[in-house]
Amino acid sequence: MLRRALLSLSRSGRVRHLVETAPVSRSVVARFVAGTTAEDAVAATRVLVGKGLLASLDHLGEDTLDVAQATATRDAYLTLLRRLGDEGLTAGAEVSVKLSAVGQALPGDGEKVALENARTVCEAARAAGTTVTLDMEDHTTTDSTLGILRDLRVDFPETGAVLQAYLHRTEGDCRDLAHAGSRVRLCKGAYREPESVAFQGRSDVDKAYVRALKVLMAGAGYPMVATHDPRLVAITEDLARRHGRAKDSFEFQMLYGIRPHEQERLAAQGQQVRVYVPYGDEWYGYLVRRMAERPANLAFFLRSVATKG
Ligand code: FDA
Repeated sequence: MLRRALLSLSRSGRVRHLVETAPVSRSVVARFVAGTTAEDAVAATRVLVGKGLLASLDHLGEDTLDVAQATATRDAYLTLLRRLGDEGLTAGAEVSVKLSAVGQALPGDGEKVALENARTVCEAARAAGTTVTLDMEDHTTTDSTLGILRDLRVDFPETGAVLQAYLHRTEGDCRDLAHAGSRVRLCKGAYREPESVAFQGRSDVDKAYVRALKVLMAGAGYPMVATHDPRLVAITEDLARRHGRAKDSFEFQMLYGIRPHEQERLAAQGQQVRVYVPYGDEWYGYLVRRMAERPANLAFFLRSVATKG
């Protein structure tokens, strides 16, 4: 119930304005978001890499309905990749791109605009010595995003995909994408989705995650296991042993500010752990999805409002 209500709030312009302008918001946001500028993102990456972690950087923003904004987002990635290259950080850091932020939702030729912008980011990533992963958004975009992924992979086969375990279709998508050279991030899924396309209950989503994970870990691709769930982390380690997977043939992924000790614990055991690092001004939708996942995150936010506001 709470999750559904919060995910609805993520679309409310009025609430968004209230939260964005609340004086306490910035300090609360800092726990989950690395800052607003490329320099902030580079600084956070340097710290993570210093701890033996990897990073995937996300320039915040989604649902762009403006060509100029889509171009500005693309250019923000180009600046970021240049800075990561200058700092010698691209061996440990890639970028995550939301296609809706680079034009996918524009009326008319949105998919074409998004493909061209994403292609430019892929070129810059390759020139800098790193890769791009395409984030997955709500289910109405899944076919379009996988279509754009296929087009990008013709020239940039290293481009990563994201599949969401809560969607009924995902086990099949895992089979299609579990081939050699294919980087696939598996996550539970963060959007409010109808019963017709997605499992609703926690335990159904967890079971679906395990089924999809089994396909990826048994396959020839490179699984990117994105979860903070200790049971799923343990199952992944077990599947890796069972399939004789070397530690460099898959990676764990977690979000910036969530279970940082677990991130370091796994890295200390020799596992590859990549931290998803969001940065930028457009943090509202991202933050609301984090609140919806975990009441403790919401409590943390409300406590800050009560104390400071
Ligand atoms: P869940 O939220 O169910 O948490 C499971 C357990 O993890 C909890 O019961 C608790 O034990 C532990 N836990 C979680 N948070 C904790 C905390 N703060 N402190 C202590 N323990 C905690 N989604 C999407 O739709 N599209 C995308 O492209 C992506 N991309 C993405 C990248 C990466 C790197 C990650 C980690 C996640 C995503 N997601 C995503 C989000 C994803 O779909 C999902 O919403 C969140 O990861 C939360 O799901 P968990 O698997 O962590 O389980």
